[in-house]
Amino acid sequence: MVNEEAVSSVSRRKVLQAVGASTSAGVMFAAMGSVGLAPTASAQPGRESWNPPGRSDFNLSGRSAKKVVVVGGGPAGLATAYELRKAGYRVTVLEARHRVGGRTLTIRGGDSETDVDGVKQTARFDRGIYMNAGAGRIAQWMVTMDYLRELGVPYEVFTNANADAYLYNEKSGATPGNPIRYRTAKADVFGYTSELLNYATDQGALDAKLTAEDKENLRGFLKSFGALQADGSYTGGDNRGFSTYPRAWNEHGTHLPGPGSASEVLASKVGLYFSFENNWEQAMLMFQPVGGMDTTYQYLVNAIGKQNVLLESPVTGVQNTPNGVKVTYQPKYGRAKMIEADFAVVAAPAGLMRKWDTNWGTEIDSALGEFAIGAPAGKIGLQYKSRWWEDDHRIFGGITETDMDLAHIWHPSYGYGARKGLMVGYYNTGTNARTYADLSPRQREARAVAQGEKIFGSRYRTELETSFSIAWHKVPHIEGAWAYPNPESAGFKKLQTGIGNTYFAGDWMSEVSAWQHGAFWSARYAVQALHARVMK
Ligand code: FAD
Ligand code: ALA
Repeated sequence: MVNEEAVSSVSRRKVLQAVGASTSAGVMFAAMGSVGLAPTASAQPGRESWNPPGRSDFNLSGRSAKKVVVVGGGPAGLATAYELRKAGYRVTVLEARHRVGGRTLTIRGGDSETDVDGVKQTARFDRGIYMNAGAGRIAQWMVTMDYLRELGVPYEVFTNANADAYLYNEKSGATPGNPIRYRTAKADVFGYTSELLNYATDQGALDAKLTAEDKENLRGFLKSFGALQADGSYTGGDNRGFSTYPRAWNEHGTHLPGPGSASEVLASKVGLYFSFENNWEQAMLMFQPVGGMDTTYQYLVNAIGKQNVLLESPVTGVQNTPNGVKVTYQPKYGRAKMIEADFAVVAAPAGLMRKWDTNWGTEIDSALGEFAIGAPAGKIGLQYKSRWWEDDHRIFGGITETDMDLAHIWHPSYGYGARKGLMVGYYNTGTNARTYADLSPRQREARAVAQGEKIFGSRYRTELETSFSIAWHKVPHIEGAWAYPNPESAGFKKLQTGIGNTYFAGDWMSEVSAWQHGAFWSARYAVQALHARVMK
């Protein structure tokens, strides 16, 4: 697990052993706090370290473990319950939906979802085929990887960038049937940009910025990066790829036609896709749990104890009392129920909580109101009876980018060698997502296929077997893809301290919102703050 202080923990343990040898549990606990091995009153929410609570905190201090109600069975809620359970807390998770995982929803054959308009879909995917309808990828640095490893969840590479995937910009000239591969687009954009910069250097345009030695170094870089000729020009070459790749004997391969002129390449705007690969959140390598993103949450539920996680139990009220909380929820059958506990950690979407019956006060209410609900994002999973994108186009994973309203097409990073497979036929946000969300599931499929066919040809239509689509702002109890905090806002800081015996968690409590990483860290900080209170 992440522990920024690991280096010095050995020496602190030595101090502890020396104290522990001759003192009582209470003194021992205080000593642990003083050397940073147990939470102390000085542990504040927002501290950048993570000192997980442990069973020994209770054993050594003689305090009894407390009871916590966790609202929401998404990543933040389940991680909260998991960390508390590990330390011996009694927890009950109340989840409104029929399944845990929240926005990490994985759709498999037989799964049904009914949206807030009452439109029901049931997935007809074959066994072994799934669609990550929400979260799909994990960067190596994210704490999500630590949870996969700690829980023993199997994971595999998620291909977020592929030189052989396509770019298709019809608004800037691409015609049906003429997508360009990333490899080719990069060669041309890098080549011409390098040629121009080389030219500017030779013309003395950069003399005010560069020494003669700098210029020589820059020329060397540009020749390599842009595959320039000895005279500094870009004329294409092997980096663009081939229509027939080299084989053996006298078959040297056939180069692709082109490149077009520098002006044409710039006008195509394909270069605008490249920065995505450098994004700190998106850069390869990335990973996914084997079998679907929600696998992680099955493991978490097992670790928490299935009996401690109540599904179809939407919370309708959270009241702070002098000594704890009263949480009201509506089970699927029968009358509303109420649980009393020492604390609540509320890990539902911020905007939705404002509809509950709470006594959190106006400050918290307006702080929660800073998180807009309803940000749209949508995806469609298209199950195909063959893996034609691998057979015909030699694309084994990655993302095909477009300027059409479907936005992104994801090629699967699993199931290689299988007969069938599933592509994500659109992943879009904003207005584009609303456009699709306003259609019926069949109309969404028709629109997505009509656009995808322009890139991939007729098999995009003829090989299709079945589809399932999601519109996140229409998913009950979630009603939006994501919301971001304003880190400078007083309201956001107020939420970090909680109110009374209630704490808040959720990816929206993190600047890394829209990622499980943010949800997990928000859970850790809520747990840490709560535990520090208990140990005070
Ligand atoms: P949620 O997952 O929203 O969970 C909140 C839970 O609270 C839900 O289960 C909900 O049903 C429940 N709830 C709501 N109201 C109540 C109530 N009244 N009572 C009880 N329970 C209630 N993350 C990544 O790491 N990688 C990605 O590639 C990625 N891609 C994404 C793509 C999309 C389209 C979307 C929508 C999200 C993506 N994310 C990704 C983000 C990731 O899914 C979220 O960060 C994560 O799910 C947030 O966890 P959470 O627990 O804060 O909230
Ligand atoms: N984290 C989300 C994604 O990677 C937005 O698609």
